[in-house]
Order: sequence, then structure tokens, then C-alpha cells
Amino acid sequence: MTVSTYSMGHDDVLVEVKLGTRSYPIMISNGGSVPSVGAFARSRNQSRLAFVVADGGVTAHLEPLRESLLQAGYRVECVILAPGEGQKSLAQAALLYEKLLDLKADRKTLMVAFGGGVTGDLTGYVAATYLRGLPFLMIPTTLLSMVDSSVGGKTGVNLSRGKNLVGCFHQPLGVWIDLKVLETLPDREFRSGMAEVIKYGMIMDAPFFGMLERNLSGILARDHGLLRRVVARCCELKANVVSQDEREETGLRAILNYGHTFAHAFEAVAGYSAWFHGEAVAAGMQAAARLANGRGLITNDIVERQSRILSAFGLPVDCDNNWPADTLIDIMRSDKKAEAGQLRFILPVGLGEVRLFADVTVDEVTAALAKRGV
Ligand code: GLY
Repeated sequence: MTVSTYSMGHDDVLVEVKLGTRSYPIMISNGGSVPSVGAFARSRNQSRLAFVVADGGVTAHLEPLRESLLQAGYRVECVILAPGEGQKSLAQAALLYEKLLDLKADRKTLMVAFGGGVTGDLTGYVAATYLRGLPFLMIPTTLLSMVDSSVGGKTGVNLSRGKNLVGCFHQPLGVWIDLKVLETLPDREFRSGMAEVIKYGMIMDAPFFGMLERNLSGILARDHGLLRRVVARCCELKANVVSQDEREETGLRAILNYGHTFAHAFEAVAGYSAWFHGEAVAAGMQAAARLANGRGLITNDIVERQSRILSAFGLPVDCDNNWPADTLIDIMRSDKKAEAGQLRFILPVGLGEVRLFADVTVDEVTAALAKRGV
């Protein structure tokens, strides 16, 4: 077996997702580390072929990645995805299976997801299912995918009637995060990613929430040191949850869905291209906080702090006035997290603490949707 080494800078961070034999590292580097990806991949995989599925938005960074994999002795084949959630489909998965067949991929073939959540979910799903499972490497290039979808092994595609309805758990062999790619991330996408970042503070880390509040302008300016702290903390928190409840069986991993029951309904009604996922999550967290406040679980102050920080990042805190509550509630009932049509919500019970509630009534949801502003 070839032994390769890859170097990390002294500011770089390594977070481990501890899952026994399926444990893997998340490498977080401040800048320009894509040329080291090949050696990292080689240290964990001995295939001849690397099949890269890349988001069309990151083609500027594709050549260094290709070069790095070549240097590590891989034959490299790339597919570039068209933009949009539409790529996360069974039809697109079938095209990738065909491509793998053409390339004579075998069970060691390394798949590499280079892009945001859509690229990672689709590539992970194809890797999970082709020949009953290929190794894959995640190289997330959006803030949202760095802090959420690239960590934890959820893969999947959408059906025409709902998002992520087909999928499976398949852990990557590693996650490589080069924060430099965030320099060119469009502003709206960056802000959208901040919704998931703020979520971690709300659900499990009040001091982290305070740190975000104190550093708004630095984060908005994409200060490298701050982004490293932010991304590393989110990955650490998520890795910890995933290590304890990989398959969302004990209820712990479900806390990551704070705001998401509302968000999935908002996205379905608004249309997936109208609202970015993080925007829907922001409005969804605010609806959930109002619901919790209506139950007396949290004070007005917490609802207002969440609203202020979301607004500071230009994120919506309200859904559209014209969306009928009963339509939204119907969608929430068919959410894959609902059980037998019973509404279930992750609600804050303090800053940095949430719990699952399965006894929420339609009236409470309607009231939370009707409140505006904070
Ligand atoms: N995005 C929620 C999870 O990974 O469980």
C-alpha cells in the first residue's frame, strides 16, 4: 500500500467524526489547501480512478483539484453539474451510474463531491448505491454545506413531490474544507449558510451564539480567522451529535432539524428556486421560537435576540403573508419527520437548548405563523 502524507498549516483544524471503523476526519484549512487534497485522498483510498462530480459554480477551483488528484496517482474524470436543486434527481443519479459504468468503475473507485449541498447529496447517494457502495470524499464549497450537509453521511435525491425522499446514510472517508473558496461565494449564499450557523448556537451552544452576536461585522466581512472558528465549531458540534446518533434514532440528531419543519413547508410553497434553504430555515426558526414563546418555553428576549441576529445577516424572519396556514400545515404533516401525521417540532427551551415536542396543536402553529416581525 502506498503511504502518502499531506500537510496542514499550523492554523488548520482537524475535527473527527467518531463512528468506530467508519470514523473520518474533517480537515479545515484557511486557504489554498486544495492542492493537498490528492495526498489526503490517497492516504485513505487506494483506487486508480477518481470520479469528481463538481458544481458548475466552482470550475475556477477545479483545475487545482484535478492536478492534485493526478499528482497522487489517480486517473481523474470529472462531471460538471448544471446549477440548481433539479440536479438532485433519480434521473441525474442514473446518468452518473451510466458514466461510472463507462469508466469501468469498481468498488474502490473514489467519488469526489466538489460543490454545495446539491452536489454532495447527489454524489453521496450515487456513491452509496453504485455497486452497493463506493468510497467518497466531500469537498464542500458553500458555507451551508461546510457546516451541515457535508458532515454526517446523509445522502439523497428529491422526488417531484418532496425533497430528500429517497436516500440513505453513507459516511464519507473524509471532508476537506478550504475556507478560501468562500471568498468567491455569492453574498446571498453566504448569508443563507449563516442561518444554519446560528441554528447551532440556538440548539446547543449559547456562548457560541453570543460570539456570533459580538462578531457580526467581522463575519460579514468574511474575516478568515473568524470563519475558521465558526466553521470549526459548527463541525465539532455536528460531529459530536452524529457520533452519538448517526441514524437519527435516539432523538439527539433530530435537534439539528430546529426550524426545519416550518422551513420545508415554506420552501415547498415558495418554490425551491425562490427561497434558498438557509432563508427558509431562518424564517422557520423564527416561527418555531414564536411557537415556543407562546407556550411559555422561552422569554421574549430570546425570540428577539434570534430575530435580531437573523436580520443582521439579511435573513427573513417571516414567511409570506399570503401563504395559507392550512396549506403549510398540511405540508408539515406529510414531512418525513412527522409520525402518523402528528406534528412534531424541535423547540427552544432556553438559549442553547432545544427539545422535541409531539403535542403541538394546529392552533399554536397557526398563531406562530400569524405573528410577524420578531
Ligand atoms: N441536516 C441535518 C442532519 O444532518 O441531520
